[in-house]
Amino acid sequence: MQPSKTPLLTHDVIAQRVGELADTIARDYADKDLLLLLVLKGALVFGSDLMRRLPGRVAVDFVRARSYTGPNSSGQVRLLYTPSAPLADRHVLLVEDILDTGRTASFLQQHLHGYQLGSLRLVTLLDKPSRRENELTADYTGFTIDNQFVVGYGLDYEEAHRELPAIHVLDNGAVK
Ligand code: IMP
Ligand code: MG
Repeated sequence: MQPSKTPLLTHDVIAQRVGELADTIARDYADKDLLLLLVLKGALVFGSDLMRRLPGRVAVDFVRARSYTGPNSSGQVRLLYTPSAPLADRHVLLVEDILDTGRTASFLQQHLHGYQLGSLRLVTLLDKPSRRENELTADYTGFTIDNQFVVGYGLDYEEAHRELPAIHVLDNGAVK
């Protein structure tokens, strides 16, 4: 399985959209201190580009969860890492690389509701709504894509391809 030769989303297209998202977010949080909570590992690249497009101060922390899928899976999600700083009264923007079934982001939202946050919103670079198993929607979405597996710009297939600057469909070696 190899990434498509032609990107689904070029680095320029992504950069343009990340700028637009940052403008919208900056407007919505104009009078608030924002805490970006990046969902590791996939949101690493998107999150670091997004934070650099936001004007003014922004705090950053990380959360990591693992979603179990497979024949015996009950769709459970487990937390591997949570922020060390206090979250009470913070305006938290959860930063995801992609919403697929929606299990991970939905689990994280529920978990974070226990922290008495000032507010909680969700931004995702990519959304595959056709795969959703719940009612989850993001407050800010970069691109809505079809049901295809994508890599690059932080997204991996078995830990490979995160370093690609653009987003590519993973295919069977066929040149697209
Ligand atoms: P969920 O199904 O919405 O819980 O998504 C879980 C995780 O699966 C995402 O955060 C991604 O790390 C991964 N994932 C889902 N679809 C893709 C894809 O097309 N490419 C790479 N990773 C994906
Ligand atoms: Mg991920």
